[in-house]
Amino acid sequence: MCVSELIALSVPDLTHVERDYLLEAFDSSWISSKGRFVAEFERRFAEFVGTEHAVSCTNGTAALHLALKACGVGPSDEVILPDLTYVSTANAVRYVDAQPVLADCDPDTWNMAPESVARLVTKQTKAIIAVHLLAVPADLEALRRIADEARCLLIEDAAEAPGARWAGMPAGSVGDASTFSFYGNKILTTGEGGMVCCHSEHLAARLRKLRGQAAHPDRHYWFDEVGYNYRMTNLACAIGLAQLSRFREIADKRAEVRSWYDEAFADIGDLVRLQVCPRKADPGWWMIGVVLDASLRANRDTVRERLQDAGIETRPFFAALSSLPIYEGCRTDNGSPVARFLGDRGIMLPTHTKLRRGDVSRVVDTLIAAIHQPVEMA
Ligand SMILES: Cc1ncc(COP(=O)(O)O)c(C=O)c1O
Repeated sequence: MCVSELIALSVPDLTHVERDYLLEAFDSSWISSKGRFVAEFERRFAEFVGTEHAVSCTNGTAALHLALKACGVGPSDEVILPDLTYVSTANAVRYVDAQPVLADCDPDTWNMAPESVARLVTKQTKAIIAVHLLAVPADLEALRRIADEARCLLIEDAAEAPGARWAGMPAGSVGDASTFSFYGNKILTTGEGGMVCCHSEHLAARLRKLRGQAAHPDRHYWFDEVGYNYRMTNLACAIGLAQLSRFREIADKRAEVRSWYDEAFADIGDLVRLQVCPRKADPGWWMIGVVLDASLRANRDTVRERLQDAGIETRPFFAALSSLPIYEGCRTDNGSPVARFLGDRGIMLPTHTKLRRGDVSRVVDTLIAAIHQPVEMA
């Protein structure tokens, strides 16, 4: 098979607009974390999310770390997060020496189930992190209500979900703080990069201070606490500003790809399940995921190998955090059976703006053939 026939999982959508902005930043010689693109990208991103402030940083993991630290989460605090998420969400909780508590997921939307969160709240709960998995927003109204009743913080990990909305509210605008990632496979990319958004001026000032080594604002080389170097470069922010200016175009193309998948999967019945987007949600369609039904004998990893052999790149879902040795001791809601099942049976399919309708048909036809191929006996 020649390389041109490969269907990649993810390809960034970069044009002359990103190139022109990047070259402008380069030619200005402001290539570190000062320069016009940093302030401009932050200002425009805050407008886009609907928050007062946006503080750029090196990546989505640093954004989570900064958000938790600036919100005062620390030792002896518990933080509830979904068992099914990228490991960063839990790692950031550990960075501030707090305890991750792992909520189970909804079997249809695959997002953290509010009723599972409610069962896990204790007096130690300092924050709930809502992750908008694969850009389908979590139930922000229910999670906000639970956080308010428990008098704890709601933080949104919107790494995968810029542009998604719950009941008309942009992902990232409901939490006390929210975080985004601009990694190369994300809806908006800057190569590496991240953002923390919030409404509070006090919190934004804390985030900016911690991001820049906690340097004293008025006294040079004076540090009254331990901070971090999590600053984003002017170069990366230039790409980010260009991507943001093209957001509608990128989002529309992704929605079209999703509609091709929906069409191609229309007759497949219940053997392969797609993520359900609740009525109140407008999704961002980051990655298209499928979950192999329990009735199928086909093993998920064998199916992925068959797709790989046919030149189609895929990824398994995130493994449930509670199945990882580093997080297996965390408190869960009855062992998170749904997150465990999804983590074992889920496959992420190619999703990007360079796909053509024929590519999507090829992915789905190959997947259907792969799940029906007889299971080889050992
Ligand atoms: C849900 C979630 N949170 C956090 C991150 C971390 O972002 P980054 O890779 O930019 O550190 C990711 C990245 O894939 C993610 O999917």
